Amino acid sequence: MISLPALLPRFIVTVLITIILLFSSASAWKKDEFRNCDQTPFCKRARSRTPHSLPHFTLSDPSISDGHLTARLLQSISSSDNDSAAGDAPRPLLLRLSVYQGGILRLKIDEDHSDPSAPSKKRFEVPDVVLPDFEDRRLWLSRVSSSDDGSTSSVYLSEDFEAILRHNPFEVQVRRKGSNDPSISLNSHGLFDFEQLREKKEGEDWEERFRGHTDTRPYGPQSISFDVSFHGAEFVYGIPEHASNSLALRPTRGPGVEHSEPYRLFNLDVFEYIHDSPFGIYGSIPFMLSHGVKSSSGFFWLNAAEMQIDVLAPGWDDAAAAVKGRIDTFWMSEAGIVDTFFFVGPRSKDVIQQYASVTGTLAMPQEFAIAYHQCRWNYRDEEDVASVDAGFDEHDIPYDVLWLDIEHTDGKRYFTWDKVLFPNPEEMQKKLFSKGRRMVTIVDPHIKRDESYYVHKEATDKGYYVKDASGKDFDGWCWSGSSSYPDTLNPEVREWWSEKFSLQNYGGSTPSLYIWNDMNEPSVFNGPEISMPRDALHFGGVEHRELHNAYGYYFHMATADGLLKRGNVKDRPFVLSRAFFAGSQRHGAIWTGDNSADWDHLKSSVPMILTLGLTGMSFSGADIGGFFGNPEPELLVRWYQLGAYYPFFRAHAHHDTKRREPWLFGEQKTALIREAIHTRYSLLPYYYSLFRKASASGVPILRPLWLEFPEDKETFDNSEAFMIGESILVQGIYEEGQKSVSVYLPGEQSWYSMRNGAAYAGGQAHKLDVFEDSIPSFQRAGSIVPRKYRFRRSTTQMTNDPYTLVIALNSSLAAEGELYIDDGRSYDFEHGAYIHRRFVFSNGRLTSSSIDLAAAPPREKFSSSCTVERIILLGMRPGGAKKAVIEPGNYETVVEPGPLVLRAGAGSVALVIRKPDVRIADDWTIKVL
Ligand code: GLC
Repeated sequence: MISLPALLPRFIVTVLITIILLFSSASAWKKDEFRNCDQTPFCKRARSRTPHSLPHFTLSDPSISDGHLTARLLQSISSSDNDSAAGDAPRPLLLRLSVYQGGILRLKIDEDHSDPSAPSKKRFEVPDVVLPDFEDRRLWLSRVSSSDDGSTSSVYLSEDFEAILRHNPFEVQVRRKGSNDPSISLNSHGLFDFEQLREKKEGEDWEERFRGHTDTRPYGPQSISFDVSFHGAEFVYGIPEHASNSLALRPTRGPGVEHSEPYRLFNLDVFEYIHDSPFGIYGSIPFMLSHGVKSSSGFFWLNAAEMQIDVLAPGWDDAAAAVKGRIDTFWMSEAGIVDTFFFVGPRSKDVIQQYASVTGTLAMPQEFAIAYHQCRWNYRDEEDVASVDAGFDEHDIPYDVLWLDIEHTDGKRYFTWDKVLFPNPEEMQKKLFSKGRRMVTIVDPHIKRDESYYVHKEATDKGYYVKDASGKDFDGWCWSGSSSYPDTLNPEVREWWSEKFSLQNYGGSTPSLYIWNDMNEPSVFNGPEISMPRDALHFGGVEHRELHNAYGYYFHMATADGLLKRGNVKDRPFVLSRAFFAGSQRHGAIWTGDNSADWDHLKSSVPMILTLGLTGMSFSGADIGGFFGNPEPELLVRWYQLGAYYPFFRAHAHHDTKRREPWLFGEQKTALIREAIHTRYSLLPYYYSLFRKASASGVPILRPLWLEFPEDKETFDNSEAFMIGESILVQGIYEEGQKSVSVYLPGEQSWYSMRNGAAYAGGQAHKLDVFEDSIPSFQRAGSIVPRKYRFRRSTTQMTNDPYTLVIALNSSLAAEGELYIDDGRSYDFEHGAYIHRRFVFSNGRLTSSSIDLAAAPPREKFSSSCTVERIILLGMRPGGAKKAVIEPGNYETVVEPGPLVLRAGAGSVALVIRKPDVRIADDWTIKVL
């Protein structure tokens, strides 16, 4: 944190900042710059409570109103350890319970503003995150059933589940009908607390200080906390973003846990974050899922203020010591309201879909966006861009997007170009686009306070900036020096911001230019914890503390909207953001920020990306190679081999690092990197189909093994391997010079090595040799994966290339798979302009038929002239087939041994149906004989 005396002349401040930044780039994570729980009064207060120690809350007057269950929550006596209530009689709170289709319970608790003694300030309820049509799916409650003794009320939740409200002490349980055991519950341990807004008493000090910063806290304490228990759970997952080695959330309190911080959800620009820590980094999604052999459930708290979450080790509460298969958690937030969603599952994919029905699914990206991106801080000038671009062609490596970081601008004024380094930006983009390639430029939220900069001038004149506590435009330091930040919570500001991306307004831009939003936590170099003061003010009098975790969400939303408008709603936007919140998946991709070029960060990228996928943010990736530092060539190669499977696949590096374009490490390493990138390009048809699935249902692209094998306990704590969709399993290699690796392959069916076609039995771990040319990857027996094996400059040239179908037969010599194709760019697919095929192999016949989703709109015309040029059969004995007969047409082709991996030197052999040349869009059958 940097504190600057306000009166110092600007140039001294600039010099100071530069020196501090230079110094900071030489050292690692500065823990002291960030608050821990003990330094965060609401967290410290909440964490010091013991179960049932608070004056408890009682529910009264449950009734039905407008199809919701409503009631009052009364605190029995005033609290002694909670500074909100000291001396005041707490007012009753309002509780509202609503039920939605698909097994979703929403619980809201807020102050009662109809109470004349309630303060006029309303607590912040996050708008624009819950899908607009979610309310249409509300089930109208018509009655509350009460238990005979009147101690509980219950409501219908779904065919199988009901919600029970215990009145005294107040508790919410979701449970299967007919069972006494809840699957998820709130306040079972009596930790619920709600600090009500109130008048300040004489002599009371509400200010909070941290490292020279003072938070005026004009509204005083207003935190909320409660416990949530997941029953029948082996592990809990989710609540990104944290750097971690472990996908399962480790306990942060209780027996066997040395002192640990709670998981912190507070969007922060953490310089050189360490690879394993519960501290908050760039994004926050307050959604947790539990998983057990029998069932899964989920819990989401829609609240954008700082949140801290403890996962409690069994026995944290003596009374709980005996309960096996229950995980207790403790949720604390600095402000906001209780707006929580309970998801009944019962399978984990159901939980994910239930969450997606509240916050949405990922926006379907363009095809180029899921291919390889080349980035660096910075590609210096147009010549540099041209030579990097040419380098890919010379070395026969495909790529789709070249990125420009902050140095391309005129003095960090976004939407401008450095006239000397980039005199002809449009021509530069057109040249790239002539090879089917795109460009991305960075646009951050800090707007340089320079009178001659039109964006600043407009924002100032229109009053569009976030205000400081005194009501003036907030002025903070970032890349552009003294800067202000657009208040994108305000829809009018979002509208204005989105117009900045039109081709007329963004000089030097062309339709093939897309956008990168960085530093939108927001990062403020001289602010508390490198961010905006919590008492800064937004639209509608909302304090920054209430909105903080969603600031980046709104900024990302406004930018994506700008690209949408620029393209007349015909060109799917691509916007990468660093900060995110629940629902950001609707606006674009995110990446895991400034990681480091070391093996630990390579390893933690997998649990981080898997966690993001489980919580809706499927389209994510980590900087290939590591942002800080210089990776050894071996690490860089391993990173490409792993990163080629990340949903978002981009190499990026800090400006102090050595250049590391794929061909700079000798011919042999170039070949290995080329091979890794080729692997991704060959799998693009499969990835694109998975993206479509994710955009339709919310099920992630990269998946933990347990999502596909929910009953296999061996998989529950596996953070090193992952599934891509349902058919491919990948194991990362995370150690230097590693010679062998143990890979657990789940399920009863076998798995085929994607390197050499060898079959491995499922349901066991295999000790495998590690090769330099690839990391272990397997295709699941019983699956069909569509691929394309002609390598071009970019995806654009692949559009009409023929397909290869890789069929991995199971023990019944059967398999199936899917392929989704559309124009890769527009929204016509929403009107039925797509091809969606199902392939089924059984009884020696492969059939291709169209998948028509029940609720599909009428089909619009979309055609593809692509054919299938080969079909690879894994799991059929050599000589098991000699020829194939194709219907319709009744013509024959040969089946003969051929290479599995279509690259030079690949020795492995499978059976290959040569040139069946059927059209991908047609119905056909191929019989092998
Ligand atoms: C931040 C970003 C990084 C970028 C740099 C300069 O550190 O996380 O990716 O290169 O800013 O814009």
